[in-house]
Amino acid sequence: MSIVRISVSLEMELLEALDDFAAENHFTNRSQAIRHLINTNSVSKKWQCNNLVAGSITLVFNHHKRDLLKKLTDLQHDYHDMILSSQHFHLEKELCMEIIAVKGKAAALTELADKLIAIKGIQHGKLTMSRAD
Ligand code: NI
Repeated sequence: MSIVRISVSLEMELLEALDDFAAENHFTNRSQAIRHLINTNSVSKKWQCNNLVAGSITLVFNHHKRDLLKKLTDLQHDYHDMILSSQHFHLEKELCMEIIAVKGKAAALTELADKLIAIKGIQHGKLTMSRAD
Protein backbone atom coordinates (compact mmCIF):
# COMPACT_ATOMS: atom_id res chain seq x y z
CA MET A 1 0.00 0.00 0.00
CA SER A 2 1.45 3.35 -0.97
CA ILE A 3 1.65 6.11 1.59
CA VAL A 4 0.44 9.59 0.73
CA ARG A 5 1.63 12.60 2.65
CA ILE A 6 -0.99 15.22 3.50
CA SER A 7 -0.99 18.34 5.60
CA VAL A 8 -3.83 19.08 8.00
CA SER A 9 -4.90 22.29 9.72
CA LEU A 10 -6.08 21.91 13.30
CA GLU A 11 -7.03 24.16 16.19
CA MET A 12 -4.38 24.14 18.93
CA GLU A 13 -6.77 22.41 21.36
CA LEU A 14 -7.42 19.58 18.90
CA LEU A 15 -3.72 19.17 18.26
CA GLU A 16 -3.06 18.94 22.00
CA ALA A 17 -5.85 16.38 22.30
CA LEU A 18 -4.28 14.38 19.47
CA ASP A 19 -0.85 14.48 21.11
CA ASP A 20 -2.33 13.42 24.46
CA PHE A 21 -4.16 10.58 22.72
CA ALA A 22 -0.97 9.49 20.95
CA ALA A 23 1.06 9.57 24.18
CA GLU A 24 -1.55 7.77 26.27
CA ASN A 25 -1.88 5.01 23.70
CA HIS A 26 1.86 4.73 23.05
CA PHE A 27 1.71 5.73 19.41
CA THR A 28 5.16 6.73 18.21
CA ASN A 29 3.92 9.59 16.03
CA ARG A 30 0.86 11.59 15.03
CA SER A 31 0.42 9.72 11.74
CA GLN A 32 0.00 6.46 13.61
CA ALA A 33 -2.54 8.02 15.97
CA ILE A 34 -4.56 9.54 13.11
CA ARG A 35 -4.46 6.26 11.18
CA HIS A 36 -5.83 4.47 14.23
CA LEU A 37 -8.61 7.03 14.69
CA ILE A 38 -9.68 6.80 11.06
CA ASN A 39 -9.63 3.00 11.11
CA THR A 40 -11.64 2.77 14.31
CA ASN A 41 -14.19 5.19 12.99
CA SER A 42 -14.70 3.60 9.61
CA VAL A 43 -14.85 0.13 11.19
CA SER A 44 -17.63 1.22 13.53
CA LYS A 45 -19.60 2.47 10.54
CA LYS A 46 -19.23 -0.86 8.82
CA TRP A 47 -20.86 -2.46 11.86
CA GLN A 48 -24.19 -1.04 10.72
CA CYS A 49 -24.51 -3.98 8.34
CA ASN A 50 -25.49 -7.61 8.06
CA ASN A 51 -22.13 -9.13 8.98
CA LEU A 52 -22.35 -11.81 11.63
CA VAL A 53 -20.56 -10.59 14.73
CA ALA A 54 -20.04 -11.62 18.33
CA GLY A 55 -19.28 -9.33 21.22
CA SER A 56 -20.30 -7.94 24.53
CA ILE A 57 -22.39 -5.14 25.90
CA THR A 58 -21.11 -3.72 29.18
CA LEU A 59 -23.48 -1.68 31.30
CA VAL A 60 -22.84 0.13 34.59
CA PHE A 61 -25.82 1.34 36.58
CA ASN A 62 -27.40 1.95 39.95
CA HIS A 63 -29.87 -0.85 40.61
CA HIS A 64 -32.06 1.38 42.76
CA LYS A 65 -33.07 3.46 39.75
CA ARG A 66 -36.79 3.05 39.29
CA ASP A 67 -37.84 0.44 36.72
CA LEU A 68 -34.26 0.04 35.43
CA LEU A 69 -33.90 -3.66 36.20
CA LYS A 70 -37.32 -4.44 34.73
CA LYS A 71 -36.55 -2.56 31.51
CA LEU A 72 -33.16 -4.26 31.31
CA THR A 73 -34.76 -7.69 31.61
CA ASP A 74 -37.66 -6.94 29.25
CA LEU A 75 -35.29 -5.74 26.52
CA GLN A 76 -33.04 -8.77 26.87
CA HIS A 77 -36.07 -11.03 26.49
CA ASP A 78 -37.14 -9.12 23.38
CA TYR A 79 -33.73 -9.91 21.87
CA HIS A 80 -33.25 -13.34 23.46
CA ASP A 81 -32.23 -14.97 20.17
CA MET A 82 -29.01 -12.95 20.05
CA ILE A 83 -28.06 -13.09 23.73
CA LEU A 84 -25.62 -15.87 24.63
CA SER A 85 -25.34 -15.13 28.34
CA SER A 86 -25.30 -12.31 30.82
CA GLN A 87 -23.36 -11.81 34.00
CA HIS A 88 -24.19 -9.41 36.80
CA PHE A 89 -21.55 -8.00 39.16
CA HIS A 90 -22.38 -6.09 42.34
CA LEU A 91 -19.60 -3.48 42.25
CA GLU A 92 -20.54 -1.43 45.28
CA LYS A 93 -23.52 -1.06 47.61
CA GLU A 94 -25.76 0.27 44.84
CA LEU A 95 -23.58 0.12 41.73
CA CYS A 96 -23.86 -2.82 39.36
CA MET A 97 -22.17 -3.95 36.18
CA GLU A 98 -23.76 -6.28 33.68
CA ILE A 99 -21.87 -7.89 30.82
CA ILE A 100 -24.04 -9.37 28.12
CA ALA A 101 -22.45 -11.69 25.56
CA VAL A 102 -24.13 -11.34 22.18
CA LYS A 103 -23.99 -12.84 18.72
CA GLY A 104 -25.92 -11.84 15.62
CA LYS A 105 -26.09 -9.37 12.77
CA ALA A 106 -24.11 -6.23 13.47
CA ALA A 107 -27.00 -3.87 12.83
CA ALA A 108 -29.31 -5.77 15.18
CA LEU A 109 -26.73 -5.90 17.97
CA THR A 110 -26.11 -2.19 17.57
CA GLU A 111 -29.86 -1.60 17.86
CA LEU A 112 -30.05 -3.69 21.04
CA ALA A 113 -27.01 -1.98 22.57
CA ASP A 114 -28.38 1.48 21.73
CA LYS A 115 -31.69 0.63 23.41
CA LEU A 116 -30.00 -0.79 26.52
CA ILE A 117 -27.62 2.14 26.87
CA ALA A 118 -30.53 4.58 26.48
CA ILE A 119 -32.38 3.17 29.52
CA LYS A 120 -32.72 5.90 32.10
CA GLY A 121 -30.17 5.35 34.86
CA ILE A 122 -27.52 3.57 32.82
CA GLN A 123 -24.33 5.42 33.74
CA HIS A 124 -22.04 3.81 31.21
CA GLY A 125 -22.61 1.49 28.30
CA LYS A 126 -20.42 0.09 25.57
CA LEU A 127 -20.76 -2.43 22.79
CA THR A 128 -17.71 -4.22 21.42
CA MET A 129 -17.86 -6.56 18.43
CA SER A 130 -15.70 -8.87 16.38
CA ARG A 131 -16.48 -10.56 13.10
CA ALA A 132 -17.86 -14.05 13.72
CA ASP A 133 -18.13 -15.41 10.21
NI1 NI B 1 -26.06 -5.69 41.51
